[in-house]
Amino acid sequence: VTASLLIPPEKLGTPEMSDSPWALLPTASNHAQALDDLYLFITLLCAISMVLVIGAMVYFMFKYRQRGPNDKTDPITHNGRLEFIWSAIPAVFLVVIFVWGELDFMKLSAPPSDAIDIRITGQKWLWTIEYPAHPGGPSLTCPRNAAECPAEEKTPTLIVPLGKPVQLTMTSVDVLHSFYIPAFRTKKDVVPGRYATMWFTPIKEGEFPIFCTEYCGDEHSSMLAKAIVVPPEQYEARVAAATKLERETTETMAAYGQRIFTVMGCPACHTTDGTVKVGPSFKGLWGKQETLADGSRVEIEDNYIRESLMEPNAKLVQGFPPQMPTFQGKLNEEQVTALIEFIKAQQ
Ligand code: CUA
Repeated sequence: VTASLLIPPEKLGTPEMSDSPWALLPTASNHAQALDDLYLFITLLCAISMVLVIGAMVYFMFKYRQRGPNDKTDPITHNGRLEFIWSAIPAVFLVVIFVWGELDFMKLSAPPSDAIDIRITGQKWLWTIEYPAHPGGPSLTCPRNAAECPAEEKTPTLIVPLGKPVQLTMTSVDVLHSFYIPAFRTKKDVVPGRYATMWFTPIKEGEFPIFCTEYCGDEHSSMLAKAIVVPPEQYEARVAAATKLERETTETMAAYGQRIFTVMGCPACHTTDGTVKVGPSFKGLWGKQETLADGSRVEIEDNYIRESLMEPNAKLVQGFPPQMPTFQGKLNEEQVTALIEFIKAQQ
């Protein structure tokens, strides 16, 4: 929480806010206005009820105040008609809220059949966003030259087309996370071992922040992403550029490895400056002798790195939790080689 408070809002990609302190967030999806309307209805209902109840209370306190030491209250039993009215009227409003909410909830739960399929994976503390129609890597704001990207441009990016329905199929590899796009008014828990789905049609172009909104550990508050709504005719090209993970002809293997390192979200757990996060730092790692959890020794070389990518829990270095997801099927041989070259270069 502290970390996100220190980051200026423009760095988080927060959309422009209205100057009015009463304004809600931008309504950037098809669900947003309906949710705001219901929210406003409930708020007004609460405000009116409060005025009626507190008003009657103050009025009766004054009207039936004790006027002298011998002023005794008449014995009060009950008033059937009054009690019926004050139960029935709120009950009708509660039913209205239920039916209204249920109708909106049904719309939220039923994606149109032509929705674009996007996959989201949550893990401590990173969202991986993948497009089955565009195999490659998960998308970041600027993966093409990731090394030069400012830190806030390395956030995972959900690229969606204006006016087209999108369905997210989401899961988690470790604990419970929750995928929340405030400007779209959509939020859903992401649970390990099952899929959760969410759908929306973006109705406003622009960049909108995405948060993890279920406390999931130390770095919960930095588990951010960004939704970018682009014109539909730009969508295909933007996604293709963001997910591209082939080696550029001019790129060295180590530079390609660095790009894969960033795009695949490895910096969430590994650093290259010696700082130990969830996993070991890559600085000076190549050729090092490490002690494994079972006490045996291993040298960090090609085979060890390859095995750690494919079966991360096979040989755990002492003191590190078994938290790395497998990259089996996600990296080809050239990409594994590039990562090895990248780790080799971190001396
Ligand atoms: Cu993931 Cu909080």
